[in-house]
Amino acid sequence: MSANAEMNRYWNEASGPRWVEFQHWIDRQIEPLGARALERARLGPGERVLDVGCGCGATALAAARAVGPEGSVTGIDLSLPMLTRARERAAEASLANLEFLHADAQTATLAKGFDVVFSRFGVMFFEDPVRAFENLRRSLVARGRLVFVCWQALARNAWMRVPLEALASVLPLAPPASPTAPGPFAFADDARVRGILEQAGFGEIAFESVQEVLPIGPDDLEGSVRFALAIGPAGAALRDSPEAAARRHEIESALREALRPYWGPRGVTLASASWIVTARSGG
Ligand SMILES: C[S@@+](CC[C@H](N)C(=O)[O-])C[C@H]1O[C@@H](n2cnc3c(N)ncnc32)[C@H](O)[C@@H]1O
Repeated sequence: MSANAEMNRYWNEASGPRWVEFQHWIDRQIEPLGARALERARLGPGERVLDVGCGCGATALAAARAVGPEGSVTGIDLSLPMLTRARERAAEASLANLEFLHADAQTATLAKGFDVVFSRFGVMFFEDPVRAFENLRRSLVARGRLVFVCWQALARNAWMRVPLEALASVLPLAPPASPTAPGPFAFADDARVRGILEQAGFGEIAFESVQEVLPIGPDDLEGSVRFALAIGPAGAALRDSPEAAARRHEIESALREALRPYWGPRGVTLASASWIVTARSGG
């Protein structure tokens, strides 16, 4: 069993299938952040890239185009349903320089010689982040680049905070897990992330703060409510709590009223804050 057993279950059984279902809308939401991180990676023709927690493959496909036929991209992910979607997309795009690996990036024996380790929101879920980043560093060439984008604190990410508050207005929610527990906001504290990367042997560590207003789910308000009911905290509560399932209609109306003020010509749009983190392996 994986070192990240709970995440393995979560991304294969609970959340992964929902990500596949809403892949188009999730990609639209986080595309600008991934594109910005890919710019920082400065991928060149012929380079080898490892895309960590590549999910349904959007950034692995973009990286494969950037490095061209002389280069190659390996996407690694725990989630079989998401990798299946990524493989379909690679085949549809006829990209032959792209492969996907179903494995835990924290512990997998990785090939050596990658020029770049990249991730769009795929590195905040490790049980033991130092061990995971050591493993990733060993896969890089000397002075190889690490580039990833991760969320800042929940308080700065209205796209998640607003639905969470709507849910909390209906149901008493369990007190938040430790802010550093594996999950989307585990890398909010830049000083902590710097410490993890230093311990894992990375240097030249830099953080760029990015604030973007993001479209959440399909363009119509009802589509965004459906999206919020499937993904994120409301989706998790409806799957895991019989009380939440029994009060689905109340949750749905609380979400609708919470999202309505943010609905406009681009659909529901909400603020986000993330870090683009860059570093180099030693050597
Ligand atoms: C928030 S999603 C991001 C997916 C994708 N990078 C994107 O931007 O659409 C996080 C991804 O990390 C993967 N993941 C989490 N822990 C992992 C691990 N230990 N090894 C490999 N993948 C992992 C999940 O399965 C999921 O696909």
